Amino acid sequence: MKITNICCIGAGYVGGPTMAVIAQKCPHIKVTVVDLNEERIARWNDENVDNIPVYEPGLGQIVAHSRGKNLFFSTEVDKAIDEAQIIFISVNTPTKTYGSGKGMAADLKYIELCARQIARVSKNDKIVVEKSTLPVRTAEAIKSILDNTGNGVQFQILSNPEFLAEGTAVEDLLSPDRVLIGGDTSQEGQRAIQSLVDVYANWVPRERILTTNVWSSELSKLTANAFLAQRVSSINAMSELCEKTGANVNEVAKAIGMDSRIGPKFLKASVGFGGSCFQKDILNLVYISKSFGLNEVADYWEQVIIMNDHQKRRFSKNIVSTLYNTIADKKIAFLGWAFKKDTNDTRESAAIYVADDLINEQAKIAVYDPKVDYKQVISDLNYLETRSDDQNKKLVTSYNDVYEACANSHAIAVLTEWDEFKNYDWQKIYDSMQKPAFVFDGRNLLDAQKIKEIGFIYQEIGS
Ligand code: UDX
Ligand code: UDX
Ligand code: ADP
Repeated sequence: MKITNICCIGAGYVGGPTMAVIAQKCPHIKVTVVDLNEERIARWNDENVDNIPVYEPGLGQIVAHSRGKNLFFSTEVDKAIDEAQIIFISVNTPTKTYGSGKGMAADLKYIELCARQIARVSKNDKIVVEKSTLPVRTAEAIKSILDNTGNGVQFQILSNPEFLAEGTAVEDLLSPDRVLIGGDTSQEGQRAIQSLVDVYANWVPRERILTTNVWSSELSKLTANAFLAQRVSSINAMSELCEKTGANVNEVAKAIGMDSRIGPKFLKASVGFGGSCFQKDILNLVYISKSFGLNEVADYWEQVIIMNDHQKRRFSKNIVSTLYNTIADKKIAFLGWAFKKDTNDTRESAAIYVADDLINEQAKIAVYDPKVDYKQVISDLNYLETRSDDQNKKLVTSYNDVYEACANSHAIAVLTEWDEFKNYDWQKIYDSMQKPAFVFDGRNLLDAQKIKEIGFIYQEIGS
Protein backbone atom coordinates (compact mmCIF):
# COMPACT_ATOMS: atom_id res chain seq x y z
CA MET A 1 0.00 0.00 0.00
CA LYS A 2 1.39 3.42 -0.92
CA ILE A 3 1.22 5.52 2.19
CA THR A 4 0.09 9.13 1.81
CA ASN A 5 -1.53 9.84 5.17
CA ILE A 6 -0.22 9.18 8.67
CA CYS A 7 -1.60 10.16 12.02
CA CYS A 8 0.02 10.01 15.43
CA ILE A 9 -1.95 9.98 18.67
CA GLY A 10 0.10 11.72 21.39
CA ALA A 11 2.07 14.93 20.80
CA GLY A 12 4.74 14.37 23.45
CA TYR A 13 8.51 13.89 23.57
CA VAL A 14 8.31 10.88 21.25
CA GLY A 15 5.35 11.62 18.95
CA GLY A 16 6.22 15.28 18.27
CA PRO A 17 9.86 14.94 17.14
CA THR A 18 9.31 11.62 15.34
CA MET A 19 6.45 12.93 13.23
CA ALA A 20 8.26 16.20 12.51
CA VAL A 21 11.16 14.24 11.03
CA ILE A 22 8.89 11.88 9.05
CA ALA A 23 7.11 14.93 7.61
CA GLN A 24 10.37 16.56 6.63
CA LYS A 25 11.75 13.44 4.99
CA CYS A 26 8.48 12.40 3.30
CA PRO A 27 6.99 15.51 1.69
CA HIS A 28 4.49 13.28 -0.14
CA ILE A 29 2.93 12.11 3.15
CA LYS A 30 0.47 14.19 5.16
CA VAL A 31 1.33 13.80 8.83
CA THR A 32 -1.15 14.82 11.54
CA VAL A 33 -0.23 14.73 15.23
CA VAL A 34 -3.21 14.75 17.57
CA ASP A 35 -3.52 15.10 21.32
CA LEU A 36 -6.32 15.58 23.84
CA ASN A 37 -4.30 18.27 25.55
CA GLU A 38 -5.42 21.52 23.90
CA GLU A 39 -2.72 23.66 25.46
CA ARG A 40 -0.03 21.32 24.19
CA ILE A 41 -1.40 21.40 20.66
CA ALA A 42 -1.67 25.19 20.79
CA ARG A 43 2.00 25.37 21.72
CA TRP A 44 2.99 23.05 18.86
CA ASN A 45 1.12 25.48 16.61
CA ASP A 46 2.69 28.60 18.14
CA GLU A 47 3.99 30.88 15.41
CA ASN A 48 7.24 31.26 17.32
CA VAL A 49 8.87 27.81 17.23
CA ASP A 50 10.80 28.66 20.40
CA ASN A 51 7.50 28.06 22.23
CA ILE A 52 6.86 24.46 21.14
CA PRO A 53 6.36 22.29 24.22
CA VAL A 54 9.34 19.99 23.70
CA TYR A 55 12.82 21.48 23.87
CA GLU A 56 15.24 19.60 21.61
CA PRO A 57 18.20 21.12 19.78
CA GLY A 58 17.25 21.60 16.11
CA LEU A 59 13.60 20.62 16.51
CA GLY A 60 12.22 24.14 16.03
CA GLN A 61 13.64 24.42 12.50
CA ILE A 62 12.33 21.00 11.53
CA VAL A 63 8.84 21.88 12.72
CA ALA A 64 8.99 25.26 10.96
CA HIS A 65 10.04 23.55 7.73
CA SER A 66 6.95 21.36 7.38
CA ARG A 67 4.24 22.79 9.62
CA GLY A 68 1.17 23.85 7.65
CA LYS A 69 2.51 22.10 4.55
CA ASN A 70 2.40 18.38 5.34
CA LEU A 71 2.72 18.50 9.14
CA PHE A 72 -0.29 19.37 11.27
CA PHE A 73 -0.98 19.48 15.00
CA SER A 74 -4.61 19.13 16.00
CA THR A 75 -7.07 18.08 18.70
CA GLU A 76 -9.45 16.53 16.17
CA VAL A 77 -8.53 12.96 16.96
CA ASP A 78 -11.42 11.23 15.16
CA LYS A 79 -10.88 13.11 11.92
CA ALA A 80 -7.17 12.30 11.87
CA ILE A 81 -7.81 8.61 12.55
CA ASP A 82 -10.44 8.44 9.84
CA GLU A 83 -8.14 9.93 7.19
CA ALA A 84 -4.98 7.98 8.04
CA GLN A 85 -3.68 4.73 6.59
CA ILE A 86 -1.14 4.34 9.37
CA ILE A 87 -1.90 5.34 12.97
CA PHE A 88 0.96 5.62 15.44
CA ILE A 89 0.06 5.31 19.11
CA SER A 90 2.48 7.45 21.07
CA VAL A 91 0.65 8.18 24.30
CA ASN A 92 2.14 8.02 27.76
CA THR A 93 2.36 4.69 29.58
CA PRO A 94 3.34 5.62 33.14
CA THR A 95 3.94 3.06 35.88
CA LYS A 96 0.64 2.13 37.56
CA THR A 97 -0.04 4.05 40.76
CA TYR A 98 -2.98 1.89 41.86
CA GLY A 99 -4.33 -1.65 41.94
CA SER A 100 -2.57 -4.81 40.88
CA GLY A 101 0.97 -4.22 39.62
CA LYS A 102 1.05 -0.86 41.43
CA GLY A 103 4.52 0.69 41.25
CA MET A 104 5.67 -1.80 38.59
CA ALA A 105 3.33 -2.60 35.74
CA ALA A 106 2.72 -0.10 32.96
CA ASP A 107 -0.62 1.66 33.08
CA LEU A 108 -2.22 0.85 29.76
CA LYS A 109 -5.42 2.81 30.20
CA TYR A 110 -4.38 5.50 27.68
CA ILE A 111 -3.43 2.83 25.16
CA GLU A 112 -6.72 1.04 25.58
CA LEU A 113 -8.65 4.29 25.15
CA CYS A 114 -6.78 4.89 21.90
CA ALA A 115 -7.51 1.39 20.65
CA ARG A 116 -11.21 1.77 21.38
CA GLN A 117 -11.30 5.13 19.66
CA ILE A 118 -9.55 3.75 16.57
CA ALA A 119 -12.00 0.84 16.49
CA ARG A 120 -14.99 3.15 16.75
CA VAL A 121 -13.88 5.61 14.09
CA SER A 122 -12.24 3.46 11.42
CA LYS A 123 -14.22 2.86 8.23
CA ASN A 124 -11.43 1.25 6.21
CA ASP A 125 -8.42 -1.01 6.83
CA LYS A 126 -5.66 0.50 8.98
CA ILE A 127 -2.17 -0.22 10.14
CA VAL A 128 -1.81 0.56 13.85
CA VAL A 129 1.72 1.09 15.11
CA GLU A 130 2.79 0.84 18.77
CA LYS A 131 5.35 3.56 19.31
CA SER A 132 5.13 3.94 23.09
CA THR A 133 7.18 1.48 25.14
CA LEU A 134 4.82 -1.25 26.16
CA PRO A 135 4.91 -4.53 27.99
CA VAL A 136 5.41 -7.53 25.79
CA ARG A 137 2.12 -8.81 24.38
CA THR A 138 0.36 -5.43 24.39
CA ALA A 139 -0.06 -5.70 20.63
CA GLU A 140 -2.21 -8.74 21.28
CA ALA A 141 -4.44 -6.77 23.64
CA ILE A 142 -4.76 -3.94 21.13
CA LYS A 143 -5.61 -6.42 18.40
CA SER A 144 -8.27 -8.05 20.50
CA ILE A 145 -9.94 -4.70 21.21
CA LEU A 146 -9.77 -3.63 17.57
CA ASP A 147 -11.09 -6.91 16.20
CA ASN A 148 -13.94 -7.17 18.67
CA THR A 149 -15.20 -3.62 18.83
CA GLY A 150 -14.43 -2.36 15.33
CA ASN A 151 -16.65 -1.90 12.30
CA GLY A 152 -15.50 -5.10 10.63
CA VAL A 153 -12.47 -3.46 9.01
CA GLN A 154 -9.04 -5.16 9.02
CA PHE A 155 -6.33 -3.96 11.37
CA GLN A 156 -2.67 -4.87 11.28
CA ILE A 157 -0.71 -4.15 14.44
CA LEU A 158 2.98 -3.33 14.20
CA SER A 159 5.49 -2.68 16.94
CA ASN A 160 7.95 0.07 16.03
CA PRO A 161 9.73 1.07 19.24
CA GLU A 162 11.43 4.44 19.38
CA PHE A 163 15.08 4.43 20.38
CA LEU A 164 15.70 8.18 20.29
CA ALA A 165 17.32 9.69 23.36
CA GLU A 166 16.09 13.07 24.54
CA GLY A 167 18.48 15.93 23.97
CA THR A 168 19.66 14.26 20.76
CA ALA A 169 16.23 13.34 19.37
CA VAL A 170 16.63 15.08 16.02
CA GLU A 171 20.07 13.58 15.37
CA ASP A 172 18.87 10.13 16.46
CA LEU A 173 15.81 10.33 14.20
CA LEU A 174 17.74 11.59 11.18
CA SER A 175 20.41 8.90 11.40
CA PRO A 176 19.21 6.09 13.64
CA ASP A 177 21.50 3.16 14.51
CA ARG A 178 18.56 1.01 13.49
CA VAL A 179 14.82 1.12 12.96
CA LEU A 180 12.97 -1.87 14.35
CA ILE A 181 9.62 -3.01 12.98
CA GLY A 182 7.83 -6.04 14.37
CA GLY A 183 4.74 -7.53 12.77
CA ASP A 184 2.64 -10.58 12.21
CA THR A 185 4.22 -13.42 10.23
CA SER A 186 1.11 -13.77 8.02
CA GLN A 187 1.10 -12.39 4.49
CA GLU A 188 -1.02 -9.40 5.54
CA GLY A 189 1.34 -8.78 8.44
CA GLN A 190 4.34 -8.82 6.13
CA ARG A 191 2.63 -6.42 3.77
CA ALA A 192 1.96 -4.00 6.62
CA ILE A 193 5.60 -4.24 7.69
CA GLN A 194 6.66 -3.43 4.13
CA SER A 195 4.45 -0.31 4.03
CA LEU A 196 6.18 1.04 7.12
CA VAL A 197 9.65 -0.01 5.89
CA ASP A 198 8.96 2.03 2.75
CA VAL A 199 8.20 5.12 4.84
CA TYR A 200 11.50 4.92 6.74
CA ALA A 201 13.43 3.98 3.59
CA ASN A 202 12.90 7.57 2.42
CA TRP A 203 15.92 8.44 4.54
CA VAL A 204 17.18 5.40 6.48
CA PRO A 205 19.47 2.93 4.66
CA ARG A 206 17.65 -0.39 4.16
CA GLU A 207 20.24 -2.42 6.04
CA ARG A 208 19.45 -0.41 9.16
CA ILE A 209 15.77 -1.31 9.03
CA LEU A 210 15.26 -4.56 10.93
CA THR A 211 12.07 -6.55 10.81
CA THR A 212 11.11 -9.14 13.43
CA ASN A 213 8.04 -10.72 14.94
CA VAL A 214 5.98 -8.51 17.22
CA TRP A 215 7.18 -10.01 20.51
CA SER A 216 10.88 -9.70 19.66
CA SER A 217 10.35 -6.07 18.76
CA GLU A 218 8.46 -5.27 21.95
CA LEU A 219 10.98 -7.08 24.12
CA SER A 220 13.98 -5.52 22.33
CA LYS A 221 12.97 -2.08 23.48
CA LEU A 222 12.75 -3.13 27.12
CA THR A 223 16.03 -5.03 26.80
CA ALA A 224 17.90 -2.12 25.22
CA ASN A 225 16.84 0.24 27.98
CA ALA A 226 17.58 -2.34 30.69
CA PHE A 227 21.11 -2.88 29.32
CA LEU A 228 21.80 0.86 29.10
CA ALA A 229 20.50 1.52 32.60
CA GLN A 230 22.50 -1.43 33.89
CA ARG A 231 25.71 0.13 32.58
CA VAL A 232 24.96 3.33 34.47
CA SER A 233 24.15 1.44 37.67
CA SER A 234 27.28 -0.68 37.24
CA ILE A 235 29.58 2.32 36.93
CA ASN A 236 27.72 4.05 39.77
CA ALA A 237 28.29 1.00 41.98
CA MET A 238 31.98 1.25 41.18
CA SER A 239 31.95 4.98 41.98
CA GLU A 240 31.16 4.25 45.63
CA LEU A 241 33.92 1.69 45.81
CA CYS A 242 36.33 4.15 44.17
CA GLU A 243 35.54 6.74 46.85
CA LYS A 244 36.49 4.24 49.55
CA THR A 245 39.64 2.89 47.90
CA GLY A 246 41.24 5.99 46.40
CA ALA A 247 40.61 4.92 42.83
CA ASN A 248 39.05 7.44 40.45
CA VAL A 249 35.92 6.34 38.60
CA ASN A 250 36.68 8.49 35.55
CA GLU A 251 39.99 6.71 35.18
CA VAL A 252 38.39 3.32 35.71
CA ALA A 253 35.67 4.09 33.14
CA LYS A 254 38.26 5.15 30.59
CA ALA A 255 40.35 2.07 31.18
CA ILE A 256 37.51 -0.40 30.81
CA GLY A 257 35.82 1.51 27.97
CA MET A 258 38.86 1.06 25.75
CA ASP A 259 38.15 -2.66 25.73
CA SER A 260 36.21 -2.92 22.48
CA ARG A 261 34.02 -5.62 24.00
CA ILE A 262 32.87 -3.13 26.62
CA GLY A 263 32.97 0.14 24.63
CA PRO A 264 33.26 3.72 25.92
CA LYS A 265 29.62 4.90 25.99
CA PHE A 266 27.24 5.02 28.96
CA LEU A 267 30.00 4.76 31.53
CA LYS A 268 29.56 8.17 33.09
CA ALA A 269 29.15 7.96 36.83
CA SER A 270 26.41 10.31 37.99
CA VAL A 271 23.95 11.15 40.72
CA GLY A 272 21.71 8.52 39.13
CA PHE A 273 19.83 7.98 35.91
CA GLY A 274 16.44 9.54 35.30
CA GLY A 275 14.07 9.97 32.39
CA SER A 276 10.74 8.53 31.48
CA CYS A 277 12.08 5.22 30.20
CA PHE A 278 14.79 3.48 32.20
CA GLN A 279 13.02 2.97 35.49
CA LYS A 280 9.63 2.39 33.93
CA ASP A 281 10.90 -0.15 31.44
CA ILE A 282 12.93 -2.09 34.00
CA LEU A 283 10.02 -2.19 36.43
CA ASN A 284 7.96 -3.46 33.56
CA LEU A 285 10.52 -6.16 32.82
CA VAL A 286 10.57 -7.12 36.50
CA TYR A 287 6.78 -7.32 36.57
CA ILE A 288 6.57 -9.43 33.43
CA SER A 289 9.31 -11.77 34.70
CA LYS A 290 7.52 -12.22 38.02
CA SER A 291 4.25 -12.87 36.28
CA PHE A 292 5.91 -15.81 34.52
CA GLY A 293 7.37 -17.00 37.86
CA LEU A 294 10.93 -16.05 36.83
CA ASN A 295 11.97 -14.69 40.19
CA GLU A 296 15.74 -14.81 39.61
CA VAL A 297 15.35 -12.86 36.38
CA ALA A 298 13.15 -10.32 38.13
CA ASP A 299 15.57 -9.91 41.04
CA TYR A 300 18.54 -9.52 38.70
CA TRP A 301 17.02 -6.54 36.90
CA GLU A 302 15.45 -5.02 39.97
CA GLN A 303 18.93 -4.59 41.39
CA VAL A 304 19.61 -1.95 38.69
CA ILE A 305 16.83 0.18 40.18
CA ILE A 306 17.88 -0.49 43.76
CA MET A 307 21.42 0.67 42.91
CA ASN A 308 20.07 3.80 41.24
CA ASP A 309 17.92 4.71 44.24
CA HIS A 310 20.92 4.17 46.47
CA GLN A 311 23.06 6.48 44.32
CA LYS A 312 20.57 9.34 44.56
CA ARG A 313 20.11 8.87 48.31
CA ARG A 314 23.82 8.67 49.01
CA PHE A 315 24.35 11.96 47.16
CA SER A 316 21.88 13.78 49.40
CA LYS A 317 23.16 12.07 52.55
CA ASN A 318 26.68 13.19 51.71
CA ILE A 319 25.52 16.79 51.37
CA VAL A 320 23.96 16.65 54.83
CA SER A 321 26.92 15.02 56.53
CA THR A 322 29.47 17.30 54.83
CA LEU A 323 27.54 20.40 55.89
CA TYR A 324 28.13 19.47 59.54
CA ASN A 325 25.02 17.27 59.78
CA THR A 326 22.61 20.16 59.64
CA ILE A 327 21.20 21.89 56.62
CA ALA A 328 18.07 23.35 58.23
CA ASP A 329 17.52 26.88 56.84
CA LYS A 330 20.67 26.65 54.74
CA LYS A 331 20.29 27.71 51.13
CA ILE A 332 21.40 25.03 48.68
CA ALA A 333 21.55 25.99 45.01
CA PHE A 334 20.61 23.33 42.45
CA LEU A 335 22.24 23.69 39.06
CA GLY A 336 19.91 21.78 36.80
CA TRP A 337 16.58 20.09 37.30
CA ALA A 338 16.10 18.25 33.96
CA PHE A 339 17.06 14.56 33.92
CA LYS A 340 19.87 15.28 31.44
CA LYS A 341 21.15 18.22 29.41
CA ASP A 342 19.47 19.64 26.30
CA THR A 343 15.94 18.71 27.32
CA ASN A 344 13.15 20.37 29.30
CA ASP A 345 11.92 16.94 30.42
CA THR A 346 12.13 16.33 34.17
CA ARG A 347 10.45 12.94 34.52
CA GLU A 348 12.22 10.80 37.14
CA SER A 349 15.07 13.32 37.32
CA ALA A 350 17.52 12.61 40.14
CA ALA A 351 17.16 16.28 41.15
CA ILE A 352 13.59 15.65 42.34
CA TYR A 353 14.63 12.92 44.76
CA VAL A 354 17.70 14.75 46.02
CA ALA A 355 15.59 17.86 46.63
CA ASP A 356 12.95 15.80 48.44
CA ASP A 357 15.59 14.42 50.83
CA LEU A 358 17.06 17.85 51.49
CA ILE A 359 13.65 19.43 52.06
CA ASN A 360 13.01 16.75 54.68
CA GLU A 361 16.06 18.22 56.43
CA GLN A 362 14.44 21.65 56.08
CA ALA A 363 16.99 23.06 53.66
CA LYS A 364 16.00 25.90 51.34
CA ILE A 365 16.39 24.82 47.73
CA ALA A 366 17.13 27.42 45.02
CA VAL A 367 16.80 25.92 41.56
CA TYR A 368 18.30 27.19 38.34
CA ASP A 369 17.72 25.26 35.11
CA PRO A 370 17.98 26.89 31.68
CA LYS A 371 14.82 25.16 30.39
CA VAL A 372 12.69 24.22 33.40
CA ASP A 373 10.35 26.67 35.15
CA TYR A 374 9.18 26.92 38.77
CA LYS A 375 5.76 25.47 38.01
CA GLN A 376 7.37 22.26 36.79
CA VAL A 377 9.73 22.01 39.76
CA ILE A 378 6.85 22.30 42.23
CA SER A 379 4.66 19.93 40.24
CA ASP A 380 7.46 17.30 40.26
CA LEU A 381 7.81 17.60 44.04
CA ASN A 382 4.07 17.54 44.61
CA TYR A 383 3.84 14.36 42.53
CA LEU A 384 5.89 12.55 45.19
CA GLU A 385 3.17 13.35 47.75
CA THR A 386 5.77 13.73 50.50
CA ARG A 387 4.27 17.02 51.67
CA SER A 388 1.72 19.65 50.66
CA ASP A 389 2.02 22.09 47.77
CA ASP A 390 2.31 24.94 50.28
CA GLN A 391 5.13 23.25 52.15
CA ASN A 392 7.04 22.62 48.94
CA LYS A 393 6.56 26.22 47.83
CA LYS A 394 7.76 27.48 51.19
CA LEU A 395 11.16 25.81 50.91
CA VAL A 396 11.75 25.75 47.16
CA THR A 397 12.35 28.73 44.89
CA SER A 398 13.64 29.02 41.38
CA TYR A 399 15.61 31.73 39.61
CA ASN A 400 16.11 32.87 36.04
CA ASP A 401 19.60 34.04 36.90
CA VAL A 402 22.18 31.56 38.08
CA TYR A 403 24.17 34.12 40.08
CA GLU A 404 21.08 35.03 42.09
CA ALA A 405 20.35 31.36 42.66
CA CYS A 406 23.82 30.83 44.12
CA ALA A 407 24.14 34.08 46.12
CA ASN A 408 24.28 33.48 49.89
CA SER A 409 24.05 29.73 49.46
CA HIS A 410 26.04 27.33 51.61
CA ALA A 411 26.43 24.80 48.85
CA ILE A 412 25.86 24.18 45.16
CA ALA A 413 24.70 20.83 43.85
CA VAL A 414 25.17 20.11 40.15
CA LEU A 415 22.32 17.81 39.09
CA THR A 416 22.28 18.17 35.29
CA GLU A 417 25.26 18.34 32.93
CA TRP A 418 24.22 21.50 31.01
CA ASP A 419 27.25 22.78 29.07
CA GLU A 420 26.72 26.37 30.17
CA PHE A 421 27.51 25.48 33.80
CA LYS A 422 31.16 24.98 32.88
CA ASN A 423 31.58 28.53 31.63
CA TYR A 424 30.16 30.55 34.52
CA ASP A 425 32.18 33.12 36.39
CA TRP A 426 32.89 30.75 39.25
CA GLN A 427 34.96 33.36 41.12
CA LYS A 428 31.91 35.64 41.18
CA ILE A 429 29.77 32.77 42.43
CA TYR A 430 32.31 31.95 45.13
CA ASP A 431 32.49 35.54 46.30
CA SER A 432 28.70 35.66 46.77
CA MET A 433 28.43 32.47 48.83
CA GLN A 434 28.61 31.61 52.53
CA LYS A 435 31.98 30.17 53.56
CA PRO A 436 33.19 27.51 53.48
CA ALA A 437 31.62 27.25 50.02
CA PHE A 438 30.84 23.71 48.87
CA VAL A 439 30.22 22.28 45.41
CA PHE A 440 28.75 18.76 45.10
CA ASP A 441 29.15 17.82 41.48
CA GLY A 442 26.67 15.05 40.67
CA ARG A 443 27.83 14.96 37.05
CA ASN A 444 31.62 15.32 37.36
CA LEU A 445 31.14 18.26 35.06
CA LEU A 446 33.29 21.09 36.40
CA ASP A 447 37.02 21.57 36.12
CA ALA A 448 38.05 20.25 39.55
CA GLN A 449 41.41 21.98 39.67
CA LYS A 450 40.05 25.39 38.70
CA ILE A 451 37.16 25.16 41.16
CA LYS A 452 39.42 24.12 44.03
CA GLU A 453 41.91 26.89 43.26
CA ILE A 454 39.15 29.47 43.68
CA GLY A 455 38.62 28.13 47.20
CA PHE A 456 35.60 25.88 46.89
CA ILE A 457 35.44 22.60 48.75
CA TYR A 458 34.69 20.42 45.75
CA GLN A 459 33.33 16.87 45.81
CA GLU A 460 32.64 14.76 42.78
CA ILE A 461 31.23 11.29 42.25
CA GLY A 462 33.66 8.40 42.50
CA SER A 463 36.91 9.96 43.66
C1 UDX B 1 38.39 -13.36 30.37
C2 UDX B 1 38.49 -11.95 29.82
O1 UDX B 1 37.81 -11.90 28.55
C3 UDX B 1 39.93 -11.55 29.65
O2 UDX B 1 39.98 -10.19 29.21
C4 UDX B 1 40.65 -11.70 30.99
O3 UDX B 1 41.97 -11.38 30.81
C5 UDX B 1 40.48 -13.12 31.53
O4 UDX B 1 39.09 -13.45 31.61
P1 UDX B 1 38.56 -15.77 29.31
O5 UDX B 1 38.07 -16.26 30.64
O6 UDX B 1 39.74 -16.43 28.71
O7 UDX B 1 38.92 -14.23 29.38
O8 UDX B 1 37.40 -15.91 28.24
P2 UDX B 1 36.18 -15.01 27.75
O9 UDX B 1 36.21 -14.94 26.27
O10 UDX B 1 36.04 -13.71 28.45
O11 UDX B 1 34.96 -15.91 28.15
C6 UDX B 1 34.63 -16.22 29.50
C7 UDX B 1 33.42 -17.13 29.51
O12 UDX B 1 32.24 -16.42 29.10
C8 UDX B 1 33.53 -18.33 28.57
O13 UDX B 1 33.02 -19.47 29.20
C9 UDX B 1 32.66 -17.92 27.39
O14 UDX B 1 32.17 -19.05 26.72
C10 UDX B 1 31.57 -17.13 28.07
N1 UDX B 1 30.88 -16.17 27.18
C11 UDX B 1 31.54 -15.12 26.63
C12 UDX B 1 29.54 -16.34 26.89
O15 UDX B 1 28.91 -17.27 27.39
N2 UDX B 1 28.93 -15.44 26.06
C13 UDX B 1 29.57 -14.39 25.50
O16 UDX B 1 28.95 -13.59 24.76
C14 UDX B 1 30.93 -14.21 25.80
C1 UDX C 1 16.74 6.35 26.84
C2 UDX C 1 17.44 5.52 25.76
O1 UDX C 1 18.81 5.94 25.63
C3 UDX C 1 16.72 5.65 24.45
O2 UDX C 1 17.30 4.82 23.47
C4 UDX C 1 15.26 5.27 24.65
O3 UDX C 1 14.53 5.45 23.47
C5 UDX C 1 14.63 6.10 25.77
O4 UDX C 1 15.39 5.98 26.95
P1 UDX C 1 16.72 8.96 27.45
O5 UDX C 1 15.93 8.55 28.66
O6 UDX C 1 16.21 10.09 26.63
O7 UDX C 1 16.87 7.72 26.45
O8 UDX C 1 18.20 9.37 27.91
P2 UDX C 1 19.59 8.63 28.10
O9 UDX C 1 20.60 9.36 27.33
O10 UDX C 1 19.50 7.17 27.86
O11 UDX C 1 19.91 8.89 29.64
C6 UDX C 1 19.12 8.33 30.69
C7 UDX C 1 19.66 8.74 32.03
O12 UDX C 1 20.91 8.12 32.29
C8 UDX C 1 19.92 10.24 32.16
O13 UDX C 1 19.50 10.68 33.43
C9 UDX C 1 21.42 10.36 32.02
O14 UDX C 1 21.94 11.48 32.65
C10 UDX C 1 21.87 9.07 32.69
N1 UDX C 1 23.20 8.62 32.23
C11 UDX C 1 23.40 8.25 30.95
C12 UDX C 1 24.26 8.56 33.14
O15 UDX C 1 24.10 8.89 34.32
N2 UDX C 1 25.48 8.13 32.73
C13 UDX C 1 25.70 7.75 31.44
O16 UDX C 1 26.84 7.35 31.12
C14 UDX C 1 24.63 7.82 30.52
P1 ADP D 1 6.25 10.38 25.59
O1 ADP D 1 7.55 10.73 26.26
O2 ADP D 1 6.01 8.89 25.55
O3 ADP D 1 6.08 11.02 24.25
P2 ADP D 1 4.43 12.34 26.76
O4 ADP D 1 3.76 12.31 28.11
O5 ADP D 1 5.42 13.40 26.45
O6 ADP D 1 5.07 10.88 26.56
O7 ADP D 1 3.32 12.40 25.63
C1 ADP D 1 2.17 11.63 25.57
C2 ADP D 1 0.99 12.49 25.06
O8 ADP D 1 -0.13 11.62 24.78
C3 ADP D 1 0.48 13.52 26.05
O9 ADP D 1 0.57 14.80 25.45
C4 ADP D 1 -1.02 13.13 26.29
O10 ADP D 1 -1.87 14.26 26.40
C5 ADP D 1 -1.34 12.35 25.04
N1 ADP D 1 -2.46 11.39 25.18
C6 ADP D 1 -2.66 10.47 26.15
N2 ADP D 1 -3.78 9.76 25.92
C7 ADP D 1 -4.33 10.24 24.76
C8 ADP D 1 -5.50 9.91 23.97
N3 ADP D 1 -6.33 8.93 24.33
N4 ADP D 1 -5.72 10.63 22.85
C9 ADP D 1 -4.87 11.62 22.48
N5 ADP D 1 -3.76 11.98 23.16
C10 ADP D 1 -3.48 11.29 24.30
